[in-house]
Amino acid sequence: MDIKNYEKYISAETLMGPSCVRILEELFEKYPQKFSKDDIILDLSCGTGLSSLVIAKETGARVFANDLWIREEENKKRFSEWGIYGQVIPFCADANNLSFDKGQFKALISIDSYHYFAGKEGFFQEKILPFMKDGGVILIAIPGLKEEYSDKGNLLSDWLGDEAYMFKSAKCWEKLIGSHCRIKTLKTWEMGCFEKAWDEWFSVNNEYALGDLKYYETIIKPYTCFVGIYVKLK
Ligand SMILES: C[S@@+](CC[C@H](N)C(=O)[O-])C[C@H]1O[C@@H](n2cnc3c(N)ncnc32)[C@H](O)[C@@H]1O
Repeated sequence: MDIKNYEKYISAETLMGPSCVRILEELFEKYPQKFSKDDIILDLSCGTGLSSLVIAKETGARVFANDLWIREEENKKRFSEWGIYGQVIPFCADANNLSFDKGQFKALISIDSYHYFAGKEGFFQEKILPFMKDGGVILIAIPGLKEEYSDKGNLLSDWLGDEAYMFKSAKCWEKLIGSHCRIKTLKTWEMGCFEKAWDEWFSVNNEYALGDLKYYETIIKPYTCFVGIYVKLK
């Protein structure tokens, strides 16, 4: 994947955190995937759909771009302007309550969002697996912790307030996803693109990026990381 192809789409309006384009580059390089144009990939919590654009262009597959905070109409307009509406279809639904057809997704990709709703045992088995095809793949990247600090509430609270509980180590996410007779392989790791993805977020210079920048050297860089999660189904 050549990240330069996507530079013109990256802006203060389309980025919602550390660059999802940079993060996808690492996911696709580490776990290269092949799809046909009839395969459907769920981009779970796609935000403004920048990740959906990259997924569609890189895989050629159809993409269901689902989000909660960003309205379907807004993403539809953006996808039409980008010339991908049709290949990429927007949806607006809570990940806790998806109503897609069962067993239809060849892949599920989710960037910088799974920690908001999936931090409880059984979520993966109950809310994700039913929608996946046999042999499917799940690629997730989320902000997390370098290790499980016993006082993480205190360490992170200036930056995250009462949302610190959502941040967990790669090991902890591996345990949370757990096991199931349909899971063939489960891997979690600390991602290498952390600094580049954050730098690209800071360079869009919007009020949210500037808010994060204040805590980068004291909290974000010393204690947090990006956790990658790969699941291959039987
Ligand atoms: C930081 S943004 C990341 C967006 C995008 N994936 C990216 O990397 O640019 C987090 C996203 O999680 C989504 N989200 C939060 N809670 C959700 C839920 N319960 N169900 C579905 N999406 C949710 C929000 O709508 C938001 O767009």
